[in-house]
Amino acid sequence: MQDLDNLAKILLEKGKIATPKALRIIKEKNLLDKVLKLNEDLINEKVLERIFEKKIEIRREKERVLGEEYEVKLKIKNAEVKHVERKPSDFISYFNSRYFLIQQMLIKRVNPISISNIKKTRNDEISLIGMVYDVRTTASGNKIIELEDPTGKISCMITKNSENDLIREADNILKDGVIGIRGIFKNNYVFITELIRPNIPITKELNKLDVPISAVFISDIHVGSIDFLEHLFKKFVSWINSKEAEDVKYIFVAGDLVDGIGIYLTQDRDLTIKSGEKQYKYLVNLLREIPDNIKIVVQPGNHDIIGNLEPQNTLKETPLNNLPNIIFGTNPCWVSLDKLKILMYHGYSYDDLIRELPSIRHEGYRNPCLPMIEVLKRRHLAPIYGSSLAIPEQRDQLVIEEPPDIFHSGHLHTVGITNYKNILVINSGTFQARTKYQEMLGHIPHPGIFVKINLQTMDSKLINLN
Ligand SMILES: [Fe+2]
Repeated sequence: MQDLDNLAKILLEKGKIATPKALRIIKEKNLLDKVLKLNEDLINEKVLERIFEKKIEIRREKERVLGEEYEVKLKIKNAEVKHVERKPSDFISYFNSRYFLIQQMLIKRVNPISISNIKKTRNDEISLIGMVYDVRTTASGNKIIELEDPTGKISCMITKNSENDLIREADNILKDGVIGIRGIFKNNYVFITELIRPNIPITKELNKLDVPISAVFISDIHVGSIDFLEHLFKKFVSWINSKEAEDVKYIFVAGDLVDGIGIYLTQDRDLTIKSGEKQYKYLVNLLREIPDNIKIVVQPGNHDIIGNLEPQNTLKETPLNNLPNIIFGTNPCWVSLDKLKILMYHGYSYDDLIRELPSIRHEGYRNPCLPMIEVLKRRHLAPIYGSSLAIPEQRDQLVIEEPPDIFHSGHLHTVGITNYKNILVINSGTFQARTKYQEMLGHIPHPGIFVKINLQTMDSKLINLN
């Protein structure tokens, strides 16, 4: 059998140049004689496939041992996305569903009475669960919070003389959030003494897999943008094919796979590929180099061509469907690997959260886990209604009904990993260079850095391709 250098030399003598991958195929399938008879001078995988009219299987350069050896059951739970005309009553059932789902999380800890019963109770001390209808600061510095439940509405107050912790919490109350409070009812106001968020229970266990496999978390590839760093993405694909990644069985991609078209005015100027279909095709060619036994779970982000109403539908209708190893998720979606539950959400709501919450306003972009922790505390992926253009479904599918084991987002283009109450919180960076828009806002992205998690130990590793 010819070695690769020799093969390349023989081909070159006949005026033909073969790509490294094509060379390997020619060697493995013993195709030299046939290739020498071809008219083409440049021999690549596609030429071989076309000429021989069947997909040529490529043997991996190395034996994948770990990733192939262990079987893990993967299930995906996608959001239901229906496109029907909305009526005003849809919004009522949507907010009622949000209220009841979060009320269930709070009820044991709060022991509430309904708002309509507050005036009837003889107790001065009361507890209630309400959705924030309005929150404002008075001229004298007190915070007024209007809370409502399905029975009515009531004004609550956190006075400026309250304890510092309570005042800090009050500054971070958002409209449409569901919270529990304890307080004293006097003069038609509830004077709040304690504020209770649904949060993640302290009893949440740290789950792990029983087998030594790893997953890689990426997002925000932005194929088609002038700032797409193709060389870094190719490095990523080579890394996936390297010894260091032999235990990697899954790649999770949390949205913005392509840059899209018409996402903002003048985007046309910032695109190298000006058709959505072609952007996905380009990505498909890059992803083809990833071995089929590695499953790639993809969900859309606000740049993907699927509309940005959340929940967003899957990318099944795109050319990604031509790849055998893609698993299509909605945004948001839940993936389970045996007992391990992974919540994927692109993160479109985080911009508004960072702007609205004083506690994360300065650090939110630099430390992308901060807005993610805020949504976990509130048990809702887009707590400010309107920030993520939520579809008013019968059931609010952006409520975090159960605590995940891994919470994966993107969108902010910076990398972060942290453990919050036994949830591994991951924001996975980008493959796009700093855009003019980010420069204007002073944001510094982290391109080419991604996260690898050993799912048996839950140890995390940042891989820097720069
Ligand atoms: Fe993005």
